[in-house]
Amino acid sequence: MATSLGPIDPVGVMEALMEGLQIIDRQWRYRYLNAAACRHGRMSKEALVGRTMMECYPGIEATPLFGLLTECMATRAPATFENRFTFADGSDAWFELRIGPWHDGLVVLSIDITERKRLDAALRASYQLRALGQMAAGVAHDLGNLLNPIALELARLRRRVQGDPEAIAAVERASGVVARGAETITRLRDYARPTERAAAPVVLDAVAREAASLVRASAPWAPTRKVTLVEELGAPPPAPGHGPDLLAALVNLLINAVDAVGHDGQVAIRTGASDDAVWVAVEDDGVGMPPEVVARAHEPYFTTKGEAGTGLGLAMVHAAVVRAAGTMDIRSAVGAGTTVTLRFPRA
Ligand SMILES: Nc1ncnc2c1ncn2[C@@H]1O[C@H](COP(=O)(O)OP(=O)(O)OP(=O)(O)O)[C@@H](O)[C@H]1O
Ligand SMILES: [Mg+2]
Repeated sequence: MATSLGPIDPVGVMEALMEGLQIIDRQWRYRYLNAAACRHGRMSKEALVGRTMMECYPGIEATPLFGLLTECMATRAPATFENRFTFADGSDAWFELRIGPWHDGLVVLSIDITERKRLDAALRASYQLRALGQMAAGVAHDLGNLLNPIALELARLRRRVQGDPEAIAAVERASGVVARGAETITRLRDYARPTERAAAPVVLDAVAREAASLVRASAPWAPTRKVTLVEELGAPPPAPGHGPDLLAALVNLLINAVDAVGHDGQVAIRTGASDDAVWVAVEDDGVGMPPEVVARAHEPYFTTKGEAGTGLGLAMVHAAVVRAAGTMDIRSAVGAGTTVTLRFPRA
């Protein structure tokens, strides 16, 4: 039976693909890009076609991706690669790239996997945090079992030493220590069962000011370095959350910032509001982080400080922010400092 199907226009098909498709010649010139590839590269077809990769993305020669492309160009063997691409504005995205030979160069297929990567990282962090929470619950339980009999014995002793002021004072000091231990256990238990904590409106400016004064008082830079800590508070409306959690989070961020700046560094804590969110940001002009450190910074136990760091600081900050329905955003570049911004919905 004869059919009257018309011819298919191959370029129209390539334009319709959800995957990005680019053809690069042996001189590294873009010869063709479909609409998805231009979207992935955030550049127009006109800005790319006919120009080389190096002209369009200065510095690309130094990337592992370019190393792989060079190898494929030489060997004519196909390859796949997961690439994190940082755009000129500092934002980034993940792409799965499938590179294949074309008679006069390479064909590259790109799939946007940013969302999958983000979910993978969130899932990994939440598993690690759950394990950490379970460990914290176990430790809290065992410590509680140790402290309870001590508290009972102290109460009994307190009755036996009536009339001996020195002994009474000693028993009271010991009881005070036990009470502080019990508070620590409660905090550990809260960490393990964070959702049971009630959210109340938090005044960001007050918490930011308190965090700054705590860090100033402990002056972790003294006496060898001079670090200026400035506050620029924008009186945003209250955020729903847990004050002590947020205070601990900001202290962690400030200490990271102080760790990162050199001899004459500056650290700033800022607050403000937009239409639907309130935010607090800690900014430093310190060493900054390469993208692979930014990507992993909030993972529990991830640290670049060796023995000096636990790698739990940003994990705790992140957990506290998520509990308050907020988000944590890290902007950083090597040598250009770091800004960590916590955003919360308006209460
Ligand atoms: N402001 C910053 N500037 C540069 N790097 C940072 C900054 N904040 C965090 N980092 C990087 O992220 C890593 C993880 O930070 P995190 O606070 O979780 O742990 P840590 O600071 O290493 O250890 P701890 O918080 O226990 O002292 C750090 O080791 C560092 O490499
Ligand atoms: Mg830290």
